[in-house]
Amino acid sequence: LFVMPRARGRRVGTALVEAARPHAEKTSAKGLVLETKRDNVWAQQLYERLGWKRDEMFYHYYLEM
Ligand SMILES: CC(C)(COP(=O)(O)OP(=O)(O)OC[C@H]1O[C@@H](n2cnc3c(N)ncnc32)[C@H](O)[C@@H]1OP(=O)(O)O)[C@@H](O)C(=O)NCCC(=O)NCCS
Repeated sequence: LFVMPRARGRRVGTALVEAARPHAEKTSAKGLVLETKRDNVWAQQLYERLGWKRDEMFYHYYLEM
């Protein structure tokens, strides 16, 4: 999820996240996943305001190349 800096704070991010849901339903997706850095409080607030739940059970691993 990314909104150009000059367009931020105008509900574009909200509109994008909300548009993903009907698209996922229409295409029979199993679910939707969002990620953000732990210190990105704006993104976390946006997700949680829209009813998304934070995963407290799983860590994500990666291998750097
Ligand atoms: C996170 C991001 C997608 C939000 O997009 P956006 O279009 O600005 O989001 P919205 O306007 O829908 O909502 C932003 C909320 O944060 C608040 N906010 C405060 N200051 C803000 C700022 N400088 N910029 C954006 N939002 C701000 C807004 O008031 C709003 O809260 P509200 O609904 O209670 O009023 C955007 O900031 C972004 O692209 N950031 C860089 C990439 C990023 O962090 N992506 C997310 C996870 S990796």
